[in-house]
Amino acid sequence: MTPSRKRAAGRSAVLRREAVVTTVPFALAALLAAAGPAAAATAGAPGAGDPYFPLEGNGGYHVVHYGLTLRYDPKTRHLDGRAVLTARATQRLSRFDLDLTGMKVSGVSVDHVKAAFRRDGQELVVTPPTVLRDGRDFRVTVTYDGTPKPVTDPDGSQDGWIPTDDGAFVAGEPQGAMTWFPANGHPTDKSSYDFTLTVPKGRTAVANGVLLGRTTSGGTATYRWRQSEPMAAYLATATVGTFEVEQYTTRGGVRVYNAVDPREAAAAAPVLKKLPSVLDWESGLFGPYPFRAAGAIVDHAPSVGYALETQTRPLYDSAPDVSTLVHESAHQWFGDSVSLTRWKDIWLNEGFATYAEWLYSEQHGGDSAQKSFDALYARPAGDALWAYPPGDPGGGAHLFGAPVYARGAMVLHELRKAVGDRIFHRILRTWATTHRDGHGTTDGFTALAERESGRNLDGLFRTWLFTKGKPDRA
Ligand code: TRP
Ligand code: ZN
Repeated sequence: MTPSRKRAAGRSAVLRREAVVTTVPFALAALLAAAGPAAAATAGAPGAGDPYFPLEGNGGYHVVHYGLTLRYDPKTRHLDGRAVLTARATQRLSRFDLDLTGMKVSGVSVDHVKAAFRRDGQELVVTPPTVLRDGRDFRVTVTYDGTPKPVTDPDGSQDGWIPTDDGAFVAGEPQGAMTWFPANGHPTDKSSYDFTLTVPKGRTAVANGVLLGRTTSGGTATYRWRQSEPMAAYLATATVGTFEVEQYTTRGGVRVYNAVDPREAAAAAPVLKKLPSVLDWESGLFGPYPFRAAGAIVDHAPSVGYALETQTRPLYDSAPDVSTLVHESAHQWFGDSVSLTRWKDIWLNEGFATYAEWLYSEQHGGDSAQKSFDALYARPAGDALWAYPPGDPGGGAHLFGAPVYARGAMVLHELRKAVGDRIFHRILRTWATTHRDGHGTTDGFTALAERESGRNLDGLFRTWLFTKGKPDRA
């Protein structure tokens, strides 16, 4: 369809709705609209169709914006929430799902009219009072409360709302967003966010993006955060704790906000000092930093065992080393700005962030990338590194394993050796800039690499990305 035809179709649809709304009662309009054979309203799918997490995300609509108003008491671990989702129907919808697990839902409305809802596992099934026309914008408000709990992932790790001794470590990869807000939780759906977070005075609540303001009232403090650039739900955070806060704006105009648990402060300080230079160095390699805000949350959460590249503001379970800072920072380009289309392509996140560590080391007096590669290649064929190929991890239990991180980085090193440094860097930069605020796929990346290099790279990618076991030649 040509752009002009599309615009014309959209326009007439709007006119039709206005005519209906002004001439017949609402329920009758819905009946009439549902009567046409081409216009049957259907339920939105309960998942986005990702085989690794079949119920993650939902069909039939896109969330443009989340407005999350949360109040958390670390002592009782009680969370009160109101989520206002601004969404757009992508099919004619009789009902739709949101992802939400645990928590008690006390009310749902659609466009300010009370809607019927029921719970079905991790699905919150909403039936709006009237059918939602394809393309229509609508607003969903969900009021809920309870004691949020993390989910246990197929690999045994926990994610979502993870209580700590002074607050909560809030990390949603791959499926924990649904533990603390109702979401269209698959990374294919990206949205802007506003957070209004209320915590006891003396605690800090840190989300993504720019801090708009902090106010106090009685015994509480309220933090307002805005994440303007589109974000996948798993990258949202609302981490609560006792934090030392540091704020500044870089020479490039990026607003930095660091929140550090005092128990981690001494170890974190020399590493966080490097954040602006790390982001500058990565901008030189990958193209402009994709967000207006940056920073870090360094929590003391020894039970967690990982860090997460929460958008604009990575979340660490303890003071990171420089390598980890480089890794989570690289994710801002690879994983956050350029999002996954399906979890199977996770090497596009982890292989790239790991290769950024190798490059950083190489250019800052450490081991060369070749040396990192060689040390891995020396591992015997039975090593866990070769357990599955990075381009086909085989399921959600294998998202965060060595074959994805380390062998994923080896793919990029092989590519670099094949095409040379100059073209390799052009491939990385073009990847990050052409898919900025969007999505990528493995096929899209390999096609881009072939286009930019003018080479047929089938054999390289077949061997390193897709073939089981240890590849033959190094
Ligand atoms: N994506 C994170 C990183 O590499 C790691 C991560 C997120 C993770 N969630 C996880 C690792 C769950 C293990 C289990 O920075
Ligand atoms: Zn990572």
